[in-house]
Order: sequence, then structure tokens, then C-alpha cells
Amino acid sequence: MIKDIRIESIEKKIYYESIPYLPKYLIKDALHNAVLKLKKTLPTFIDKFPSPASQNQVFDAIENIEWTTGFWTGELWLAYEYSQDPIFKEVAHKHTLDFRKRIVEKIEVEHHDMGFIYCPTCIASYQLENNEQAKETALLAADNLLARFQEKGQFLQAWGELGAKDNYRLIIDCLMNLPLLYWASQITGNKEYHDKAIIHYITSCNTVIRSDASAFHTFFFDHETGAPSHGAARQGFNDESAWARGQAWGIYGLALSYRYTRDFRALEASRALANYFINRCPEDHVPYWDLIFTKEDGHVRDSSAAVIAVCGLLELDKFLEDTDLDKKAYQGYVSAVMQELITNYSTTKNCPESNGLLLHGIYNWNFQSGVDECTSWGDYFYMEALTRLYTDNEWESYW
Ligand code: GLY
Repeated sequence: MIKDIRIESIEKKIYYESIPYLPKYLIKDALHNAVLKLKKTLPTFIDKFPSPASQNQVFDAIENIEWTTGFWTGELWLAYEYSQDPIFKEVAHKHTLDFRKRIVEKIEVEHHDMGFIYCPTCIASYQLENNEQAKETALLAADNLLARFQEKGQFLQAWGELGAKDNYRLIIDCLMNLPLLYWASQITGNKEYHDKAIIHYITSCNTVIRSDASAFHTFFFDHETGAPSHGAARQGFNDESAWARGQAWGIYGLALSYRYTRDFRALEASRALANYFINRCPEDHVPYWDLIFTKEDGHVRDSSAAVIAVCGLLELDKFLEDTDLDKKAYQGYVSAVMQELITNYSTTKNCPESNGLLLHGIYNWNFQSGVDECTSWGDYFYMEALTRLYTDNEWESYW
């Protein structure tokens, strides 16, 4: 059973419905520029990976130890799909060996972010070059994630030692890790991955998502009884607010749960989070880093939340009838925000010296880390959004 989650009407529905599709040449141009930038950046990130966020708009080179390193490899796969330039394939393929080493040797994998790491890397490689070893690697990652399932509370524990009181919680971001489990079921025929993913998504709807369709970042359970306890911010502004990127992870993650399960409740929940998100975006459509803020608060944007939401809306779009109440408004939002991002947020046009793609993202305000910077996930989802639009949303998803 899933609790009632309110679906707000889209306040600027008529306005968004009036926005035309982005012209193809603009999308192609933006994708082309992104691929050129990747080619230029490539030599720095063959044996190393970009840091989660840039510093002064420049990513450092780090080892493969972060939850974010797969996004770079994912960008390379997208660049390869667009350009067919074999250098991108060569490097992305090489990275799959690095990701194999990481899961086999258990290097920084004691957390739930297996989907973020292994979908845009090894699943992509399996899809694009039939790489059996990459498939096996992604299955190891799926096992690692499945092992985090907690019977008491019925959820995948995000971080820390399994069962530990101070980390007995799930987080909204984890909805994006579920596709790895759904995929593992399809590949192996083992239903357990699929079933646990569904249980986790339902528990998330009943806990970390509030009845008004805003999301806490994290939600704690009693570690002894498994009883739901309380929502808590970590990257969000406070315990009552809606962290913009968390809300976007929810939109996209739930749309993906719908794709794999055809459980209509996932589609409705995704829509509920989307409407809440869109209604709280300012005039240029790019949210402040927490949806609680308005112009007067003077806070920075999170462009990465915008592109994640765009990918989620494009995933939803595949399943909405033409007669659907919100379909046209979602398409209008996608066109409006992408136009804004390409014009005013892309490094091509606004910061050519950067080795990133998308300006004005944020990692963590509370830790003052990566504030108003490029982010590795922002760059990846910017490319995914462009790829989806360029292929008329026919792109074969890595998720
Ligand atoms: N998954 C962590 C973040 O979005 O920053």
C-alpha cells in the first residue's frame, strides 16, 4: 500500500504548454560542443576521473573512489554514441576494467550508490559493445546493493555500517540506484533483485516522500524494530525543506521504477514530485539549490537538479498519453529550461576555459563544498538530456 501523495496542478501550465520544441539544430550544436569539450579534456581523465565538483570551474583528477566517477565514463559513452569517434569507446571500455577492479576488490563500495557507478559504465558497455565481462561486473555491483536490504524497515540502507543506529536510513537518491536491481533481474531471471527494488520504492513513497509530494533527503528507521522514525536533511537546507536535487532524483528514479514495473503508482508519484518541483522553479526555470528559496533569499541555483529533472520528465513522457493532463506542460518545461541551460549555463558559451560542461551546480551547501561549480553528474545528465532530445527520446537508456 502507498499513502496518498498530493499531485499539485502546474501553476504555469498554460505558459509551459505554449513553449515550442527546441529546434534540432540548437540541440545538435550543444551536443557537438559538449563532445568537442570532452575530446579536449580526455587526456587528463584516462587513468583518473574528474572530482565530484569543480573548483573555480575546473575538475581535478582523482582515483576511482567516489560515487560520482561513473558519470565521466557515461559521458564518454554518450559522446561515442553521438560521434562514433573510437577514442571515446576505447577509454570508456578501459574504464570498465577499473570499475571491475573496484567492485572485486571492494574499493569504496560500502554504500548504496552502485547504480550511479555501474549503470553509465558497465551496463552501457554491455549494451553498446556486448561486453560480457562488464555485464558480470554490473551483476556484482547489484549483489553488493542487494546486500544492503534491511528486512527491519524494508529498505536499502544508504550509508555506513549495516544495521548501525546512526545510519539506519534510506535516502531519496537511492531511487536512481534501483534500475541496477531491475536490470539484474532481467539478466539473471532472479526475481529477488526486482522484488526488493519494488519494496524499497514503496517504502520510499511512504516515508522519505511527504504527502505534499516534497521529499526529505533522508529518512530514519528504528534499528531495532524497523519502525519508520523521522525525516532529516543532510544536503537539504533543513528538515522541513525540499532539497532540489533530491526532488529531481525522485522524479527520475520513480519514472524509471515505472518503466521496469509498470506499477502506475510509481508514475503518479513521479508526476507528483515533478509538479511540486516545476511550481517552485524561478523565472529562468532553473531551481535554487533548495526549493524552499525564492529570489529574495539570494541563494545559488542547482543546474544539475534541472537536468536530472529534465531526464526524468523525458522518461515520463514516453508513458504519458497525448491526452494526458500535464504532458504538454512537461514538454514545455523541458524546452524552456534546456534553452536556458544551453544559452546561459553551458561552459561553451559562458566559460570556455572550464573543463566541465554545465555551470552553476552545487555539491553540498551545508559543507560549503562545490558551491556554484560544475558537477560531474550535472555534466552527465546535461549530455543525457541533449542525447534524449537529439534522438527524439529514442536513446537506449543506461538506467
Ligand atoms: N547523491 C548525492 C548527491 O546528489 O549529492
